[in-house]
Amino acid sequence: MKMILAMVSSVDGKTTRWNNSDLHSWTSKEDQEYFSKLIEENNCIIMGRKTYEAAKNMIKHRSGKLRIVLTGNPKPFNHLSIPGQLEFTNKPSKKLIKRLEDMGYANALLVGGATVNTLFLKENLVDELWLTLEPKILGNGNGLVGESELDVNLQLLGFEKLNNSGTLLLKYKII
Ligand SMILES: NC(=O)c1ccc[n+]([C@@H]2O[C@H](COP(=O)([O-])OP(=O)(O)OC[C@H]3O[C@@H](n4cnc5c(N)ncnc54)[C@H](OP(=O)(O)O)[C@@H]3O)[C@@H](O)[C@H]2O)c1
Repeated sequence: MKMILAMVSSVDGKTTRWNNSDLHSWTSKEDQEYFSKLIEENNCIIMGRKTYEAAKNMIKHRSGKLRIVLTGNPKPFNHLSIPGQLEFTNKPSKKLIKRLEDMGYANALLVGGATVNTLFLKENLVDELWLTLEPKILGNGNGLVGESELDVNLQLLGFEKLNNSGTLLLKYKII
């Protein structure tokens, strides 16, 4: 399965504006449009429980699009599950990927946050990082990954300037 990690970050590596989890408060219109398209194009989307909580009001569930939310304790979320569309799981990531492959998914989009990104990177489960770099410095906020010892080498595959301010979409292969 090809796993793409898609995130938006400030130039100083912050993925939230301070402690505000609302991404739309600081990211560019162009990134929001690009990200919506990415979600449209991907039918298997994986995220951490905190990312789900931050995004749940914007998520439009529909048949054929599966969202998997990782949580250590799926039980309290069971009533929110929608078969084939929204799942809460504590399955170990490798087992989860195997199950998704068995279900026929060839691609998945990992959409954060930092905790889950770290978990997947540590287990070598990410193939590419698609990082939008917003021309902003935020000083304080979440990171792309958690505070953990990682040493991940990337190879730039390509980049695109999304607007006149210089929002960049950087696509990296994870070596
Ligand atoms: N800029 C961006 O592109 C971007 C993208 C995504 C998110 N964000 C932001 O990032 C923030 C959330 O990031 P975060 O790092 O705090 O949280 P997160 O990665 O979204 O979610 C963390 C949660 O995932 C669950 N989890 C972690 N490891 C697990 C494992 N091995 N098995 C099962 N479940 C596991 C746990 O849920 P339980 O606590 O329920 O056990 C944990 O609390 C939000 O503010 C969001 O807005 C930014």
